[in-house]
Parts: sequence; structure tokens; C-alpha cells
Amino acid sequence: MHAKVAVVTGAASGIGRALALGLARRGARLALADIDPGGLGETARRAGALGVEAHTWQVDVGDRAAVVSFAAEVEKHYGTVHQLYNNAGIAGGGVNILDAEWAVFERVLAVNLWGVLHTTKAFLPHLIDSGAGHLVNISSLNGLMAQAELGAYSTSKFGVRGFTEALRMEMVAAGHPVRVCVVHPGGVKTNIATATLAEAERIGRVVTAEYREQIRVYNERALRLSPDRAAEIILRGVEANRPRILVGGDARVVDVAVRLLPRVYPWLVGRAMRQAAR
Ligand SMILES: NC(=O)c1ccc[n+]([C@@H]2O[C@H](COP(=O)([O-])OP(=O)(O)OC[C@H]3O[C@@H](n4cnc5c(N)ncnc54)[C@H](O)[C@@H]3O)[C@@H](O)[C@H]2O)c1
Repeated sequence: MHAKVAVVTGAASGIGRALALGLARRGARLALADIDPGGLGETARRAGALGVEAHTWQVDVGDRAAVVSFAAEVEKHYGTVHQLYNNAGIAGGGVNILDAEWAVFERVLAVNLWGVLHTTKAFLPHLIDSGAGHLVNISSLNGLMAQAELGAYSTSKFGVRGFTEALRMEMVAAGHPVRVCVVHPGGVKTNIATATLAEAERIGRVVTAEYREQIRVYNERALRLSPDRAAEIILRGVEANRPRILVGGDARVVDVAVRLLPRVYPWLVGRAMRQAAR
């Protein structure tokens, strides 16, 4: 990875920041994108302290025109891009499909699914030209198993998986030198669930004390792996050219369960949720 150029979206926080720092430790030159300029600046400062070049771009990955000009600026600055980590994402959870405002579906799909499509299309020619490109799309455990009250999120993450697998076949069929990888993390201790509260308030939903408590318990019980550990599993998987990377014991269990118990698992998960709500 030494001196190669890696683009990381959602680099201001959580897994994206940890990926950026893991890549910096491997000597990569970094193009970091996020909507949060403060967090981005902090990631770049930490990467710089590791002795690598890191530049930041404030980009909303859901905005196609912004992503196209981001890719052009990265090319102007660095030339060839070798690796793209499509990591930016939001959860948009806590509401069932029957009651969900359209704004929830629109925003979650814009960031998690369209964001991945925009950046992939914008950077793919560069990855091909690099002669040894790597595209890494972060899906989720919810790209293997859907979950109630995460309808928009599950839709987006199954979409990322389908898009990534189709693209992998196309790269193989065309003989293009790009490895294409889909990542399914389980619970990772980041800001993702807490950020849902701010997003809910932004679209005018009333955030109840009960929902705040649900997020607190979810953070405590479900999001356990450290972002550094998650990033290390991902980067080692990329180095080993794995097409599919499962992050954490929970993702590995779900991966087996959905295949062994395809008819029973939705019922088991629903029942577990009912019990947890008591
Ligand atoms: N944390 C988990 O348990 C978990 C599990 C499975 C998958 N994931 C996925 O991992 C990825 C990273 O999430 P995280 O857990 O580190 O969350 P996080 O909230 O800590 O980080 C997400 C980053 O994405 C940025 N972002 C949000 N919308 C954006 C936009 N429109 N354009 C650019 N940047 C944007 C945020 O500002 C933030 O810096 C996401 O795709 C998420 O769905 C996380």
C-alpha cells in the first residue's frame, strides 16, 4: 500500500476514521471525504502525524455532481487512485415501514446506496487505470439479514451487496484489474446509532425519552467491537484479496443462520425483539 492513493468516504468518524488511520500506518496517501469538516480535520491531523499525506474534501456522497467534482479534484491532486473505500453511512432506524416518513427512506437510500453508486462510478475508471485497483463497499450485517425498524437501512445495505456482486462479475468478465469487495460488519462501537437522534430531529420527528433509552441500550449491548479492530479486519481482508469480509462474531453467526434457517430466522428475530421490548 506504500505511496498508493486511497479514497475513504465517511472518514470523519468511526470505521472510516479507523480505516484512514490503518491505511496511513501502511503508508497510503489519503483522500478523505465526509460532510463533517471538524471530524475530517481531526482524522487528517492524526494521519499526518503518522507521516503520510492526507487531504480532505467536504462532500455529501448523496450529491452526484459533488461526487463527480470530488473525483476530478482528487485526480488533479494525486493522479492515479488505487483504492476506494465506500464507507459513509447513516442508520435512519427506530421507525417501522408503516409509519416511516418518506424523508427517512430518501435520506438513507441517498447516502447508503446512491452514495456508493456515485463514488463507484466516479472513481472506477481511475481504479481500472491504476492496473491494480481495489473497491471496498461497506454493507452491513443488515445486508445479510433484514431487521424490523431498520427497513430503509436494510434495503440500502442489501442494495450495496447486490451492486457490489454485479460489479465484481463485470470486472472479472471484462478482465479489468480491479478487485471488488463487500464488507458485512456486525455491531461496531461508533456514533452511528446516536447520529440517528440528530437526523430524526432534523426531519422534525419527536424524539421520545423512550427512544433515547433504546439507543443507549443498543449502543451498550449491540455495538461492541472497536472501530480500530473492525478496520484492521477489513484491511487484512483487502490485503488477502477476499471478495467478502465478515467483521465480528455476530456477523459470522448471522451469515450462517440466514442460510441454515431461511424460513425460521425472521420469526426468531421478531420474537427476540418482542422480548427485548418488555
Ligand atoms: N457501527 C456499526 O455497528 C456498523 C455495522 C454495520 C455497518 N456499518 C457501516 O459502516 C459504515 C461506517 O459507519 P460508522 O459505524 O463508522 O458510523 P459513524 O456515524 O461513526 O460514521 C459515519 C460517517 O459517515 C459520514 N456521513 C454521513 N452521511 C454522509 C454523507 N451524505 N456524505 C459523506 N459522509 C457522510 C458521517 O458524517 C460520519 O463521519 C456505514 O456505512 C455503516 O452503515 C456500521
